[in-house]
Amino acid sequence: MNPRTRHVLLLWMLVCSGGTTEAIEPISTSIAVGMAAALTGFLASYQNIFYYFHECCRPEWISFNRTGLEADLESKLFGQHIASRIILKAVTGFMSNENPKKPLVLSLHGWTGTGKNFVSQMIADNVYKEGMDSSFVHIFTSELHFPHLSHFDTYKSQLQQWIKGNVSNCARSMFIFDEMDKMHPGLIDSIKPYLDYYDRLDGVSYRKAIFIFLSNAGAEGITQTALDFWIAGRAREELELKDLETVLSLSVFNNKQSGLWHTNLIEKNLVDFFVPFLPLEDRHVIQCVMAEMKAKGLQPEQKVAAQVARDVVYFPKSERVFSVKGCKTIASKLDYYT
Ligand SMILES: *[C@@H]1O[C@H](CO)[C@@H](O)[C@H](O)[C@H]1NC(C)=O
Ligand SMILES: *[C@@H]1O[C@H](CO)[C@@H](O)[C@H](O)[C@H]1NC(C)=O
Repeated sequence: MNPRTRHVLLLWMLVCSGGTTEAIEPISTSIAVGMAAALTGFLASYQNIFYYFHECCRPEWISFNRTGLEADLESKLFGQHIASRIILKAVTGFMSNENPKKPLVLSLHGWTGTGKNFVSQMIADNVYKEGMDSSFVHIFTSELHFPHLSHFDTYKSQLQQWIKGNVSNCARSMFIFDEMDKMHPGLIDSIKPYLDYYDRLDGVSYRKAIFIFLSNAGAEGITQTALDFWIAGRAREELELKDLETVLSLSVFNNKQSGLWHTNLIEKNLVDFFVPFLPLEDRHVIQCVMAEMKAKGLQPEQKVAAQVARDVVYFPKSERVFSVKGCKTIASKLDYYT
């Protein structure tokens, strides 16, 4: 370690740890006190600059922007009036509670391309200054992080250590589990204690953490309900959560693979909100294209957007109502059209 690195690390320990002594435990206390005294003047003058440049578990870096989340949901997420409403309410309620009784656990359901990942990103963007790049946001994908069934025991203890380690570092940590339905049920079992109403587990409180589960489980039921509405000539916006709750829990329970974990989480009421994502129609695909053009610094053109949307594949085959991939491949398609 070169002197400068050591210097910065020491600063980080003293400044970022926000008054806890845990971070300086490895150094003997007397030395630490000596160093701290020597650095006091230095720290006093550089503290603000330091906070400014290095991400810390502090309000300078972590604070919820409700206006920002609302604006993002309104202007960048299309065709998801139910999800949008639940997310805003859930996150606002949780983040404005100084003393939550349990961590926030959201389970997002729907086909790919309907906005589940996107919404997770919006939440991260409006809680952490660094958004998804924040060192307090953690993403786990079963295929990437837990690919081999035979290593299950290793994964399990690793995952538990990661969650514990990261929440010890920063109570306001966020964990996103992608492809939850592909995850080993035992692995999900192993994180259950962290989602529960415990005050502390081994001296660590998980109550300020956010857990987001993403899965396709229940997508068929959601789609069927949306299709029934469409066939009956009813407006999609009339769809309410209660229209979907039953199909969602039914299909989730009946799906053998995902059933296991869900049953368990549902029975213990560990999931605070099940959030359905509806399949997208061509008008939503058009909105996605327009937004993408704007994001790329192009002049949004209705004609181009309509063209892109026309070439997307829709289902069911006869009615062609919903985009098979939602808005997922829009960005790359757009390159081809412009
Ligand atoms: C919150 O978000 C809004 C809209 O994106 C933005 O204008 C505002 O500057 C943000 N506030 C803070 C404190 O970052
Ligand atoms: C935090 O989680 C990441 C995985 O996202 C892991 O690599 C890291 O070791 C964890 N940190 C601690 C202190 O456990």
